[in-house]
Amino acid sequence: MGLKRRLGAGRWAIHVAGLLSFIWLAAAAIQNQLGPDPIKQLALLTGDRGFQFLLFSLAISPLARMVSAPLLIQWRRPAGLWAFYFLCLHLLVFAQGYIGWSWALLVEELIERPYISVGALAWLMLVPLALTSTRLARRKLGRRWGVLHRLVFVVAALGCVHLLWQVRADWINAGLYTLICVLIVGSRYRNASWFLKAN
Ligand code: HEM
Repeated sequence: MGLKRRLGAGRWAIHVAGLLSFIWLAAAAIQNQLGPDPIKQLALLTGDRGFQFLLFSLAISPLARMVSAPLLIQWRRPAGLWAFYFLCLHLLVFAQGYIGWSWALLVEELIERPYISVGALAWLMLVPLALTSTRLARRKLGRRWGVLHRLVFVVAALGCVHLLWQVRADWINAGLYTLICVLIVGSRYRNASWFLKAN
């Protein structure tokens, strides 16, 4: 098997990374190793892991172009799905641990804490992306698939706003995510302008 073919098969490594992350998280929660405020810690860990998979999925196209390995594109779907999975867990932790499934409290939080509304909007935008991530949906939607999936950039931008808006003292985490987002989008823009000039 050639190196590039092996790269395509490497998408399974992403499933392994996602599964191991989840097992580690579940084990830490079950063994009560999440510190004095386990609910908050779970919210932070699931949010972090979801955002990390999301950024990884965004970085794959520029990376594939950089190393001329189009098969790397096959990694995008598992990375995106694991991002969605962890952000669903993030939402569940919020629903159970922060507002106890109360609609009244949800409305209150959405109004009083705008960063929650921004996070919710980002999560809602991920739903159609996850639902149309299959090969069949891609074939059926044709060109519209690409347009729809550009929403992932809006999700990443909203994710950054969600983080920047909740920062109290420690800017490092939110700043790092935002910097990585800007670098990824910047690298795509550089490629796009190079492409336009070359054509
Ligand atoms: C309905 C959707 C969402 C809700 C209700 C929500 C809620 C929250 C809450 C309450 C926290 C803060 C935990 C605390 O300090 O007590 C948090 C943190 C976080 N959220 Fe969300 N979130 C949502 C969507 C998202 C999305 C879509 C992303 C990523 C794209 C995201 C990424 C993060 C990250 C990375 C943190 C950790 C920040 C840190 O480490 O300081 N969240 N979220």
